[in-house]
Amino acid sequence: MCGIVGYIGRRDVAPLLLEGLQRLEYRGYDSAGIVITGKAAAGKPGALKMVKAKGRVRELEAKVPKRFAGTTGIAHTRWATHGAPSDENAHPHLDAENKVAVVHNGIIDNASELRAKLTADGIVFLSETDTEVLVHLIARAQAETLEEKVREALRHVEGTYGIAVLHADFNDRIVVARNGSPVVLGIGEKEMFVASDVAALVAHTRQVVTLDDGEMATLKADDFRTYTTEGSTTTATPTTVEWEAESYDMGGHDTYMHKEISEQADAVDRVLRGRIDDRFSTVHLGGLNLDAREARGVRRIKILGCGTSYHAGQIGAQLIEELARIPADAEPASEFRYRNPVVDPDTLYVAVSQSGETYDVLAAVQELKRKGARVLGVVNVVGSAIAREADGGTYVHAGPEVCVVSTKCFTNTVVAFALLALHLGRIRDLSVADGKRIIDGLRRLPDQISEILANEDEIKRLAAEYADAKSMMFIGRVRGYPVAREASLKLKEVSYIHAEAYPASELKHGPLALIEPAMPTVAIVPDDDLLEKNRAAMEEIKARSGRILAVAHQVQEKADHTIVVPKNENELDPILMGIPLQLFAYHTALAMGRDIDKPRNLAKSVTVE
Ligand code: F6R
Repeated sequence: MCGIVGYIGRRDVAPLLLEGLQRLEYRGYDSAGIVITGKAAAGKPGALKMVKAKGRVRELEAKVPKRFAGTTGIAHTRWATHGAPSDENAHPHLDAENKVAVVHNGIIDNASELRAKLTADGIVFLSETDTEVLVHLIARAQAETLEEKVREALRHVEGTYGIAVLHADFNDRIVVARNGSPVVLGIGEKEMFVASDVAALVAHTRQVVTLDDGEMATLKADDFRTYTTEGSTTTATPTTVEWEAESYDMGGHDTYMHKEISEQADAVDRVLRGRIDDRFSTVHLGGLNLDAREARGVRRIKILGCGTSYHAGQIGAQLIEELARIPADAEPASEFRYRNPVVDPDTLYVAVSQSGETYDVLAAVQELKRKGARVLGVVNVVGSAIAREADGGTYVHAGPEVCVVSTKCFTNTVVAFALLALHLGRIRDLSVADGKRIIDGLRRLPDQISEILANEDEIKRLAAEYADAKSMMFIGRVRGYPVAREASLKLKEVSYIHAEAYPASELKHGPLALIEPAMPTVAIVPDDDLLEKNRAAMEEIKARSGRILAVAHQVQEKADHTIVVPKNENELDPILMGIPLQLFAYHTALAMGRDIDKPRNLAKSVTVE
């Protein structure tokens, strides 16, 4: 949510920053801006030069003048929180003398109060943003150095921030600070980068330092140093980012969504690699930090996540109950953190997040840790805030996910939960034979995913058939219900067709009233002990002249169309049944001419409340 990129070195900065913004555009895309320090004339500081534009990065690029030379700069792509998308509200923001420039991710909670005070002191605000207060606070700070000015300003501020600051009088440096919004330094040879996300860095350097909350850094072309907002020096050892620059490219696909859907067989192969232990019919999850005795002491598991990750957690909870026989449930982290939950010492909490940054999940983890709970993370981005905050956990190894709409991370997260459930099950009551059965099933997944993806043309044809629907119903029962929920979310966020998901068992308790020819239903119909019940639900829909598209293991007579998917073990079927519906949502959106990778009003990684 919003992207920051900055550079200091010897290269021409504008093209570098614009390229970085393109890489970060998935995090926010309603406006963008860039500021650089111009060349200093003898004895005089270099003035700041700024361009901002409402719209996409390409709109900004078109506005940047040919002569826009400089070797230090910061830039931003925005997802509006305070103030509508506009040139004025786009970041960077400058003070009245055009000396201080700030780009900011996060939300300043006491912005209105600070704004009122600054306005009473005669400051004129040019934007409606919360960020602008920071600029004026830094400009007014009575301090000798830029670091002290920023520190002084931050003392007045409550809320979350990842910021980068340029000052015309201190043009040999960029000062950055983090509290709740990611800031990553990229360490180069006689050049330094900063970004809110490694996506903007990996084309230039894979040596990175991730700041902690309460940390600041000064970047100069030749070195960097990190310190706390109180001023004490901190140690920062660069680590190497695993993901390569190419994994952020489109790789011959027209959209990232299509690329990421297509990558799922390899991604699942990656999450399984090196983890299966055939000797004991179990799996090893190195980073759990939960020994067998502790695992046996767990009485309940509570999974917390948002959106797609929450749906993956719902399937995860079922897997844990089925394989490990530990009571488990999933809840939206955004709800959990506000309801003063009972935190039980025998409960193991699991935070699920692709980005590892989602604010609601992070806040839930922090609240749980404060109350002494043990929290595991199931996370995709290595070293992200949630991964660092958790007591242990497992990475889902899906590789970078750029499309705002999550696909491959959903699948890999569910597989990661299957591994966790198998691991816990084999420590408790799951037999060797059942352990082996699940392992064999897991090994079949990559080929079965390829088989589903090979059916794309047929799914595309079906998408065209249903694209006229104004609204769609998704139903499933028990294992199929979270699949239905996720498929309904996929369709609505990428195509903007209204979709609802219901347990098939709940249809006759109300939603059946909606069924008519103009409201088609997608039914998840696995070949398991509930098959006949699901068929009965389809019968009820047909009796009301509803159209049905089934996702099933065999052609369903009651359905108008069936997408047949390969059968795996009952417990693992939900992993496969969602995949054709990702393609269904994709092709529906494509047929409707939607902006697939950047749906309206959304952004990747919701790092604000
Ligand atoms: C939907 C989607 C969102 C995210 C949610 C949580 O396609 O991507 O619903 O799943 O915002 O994000 P993470 O997993 O990064 O915590």
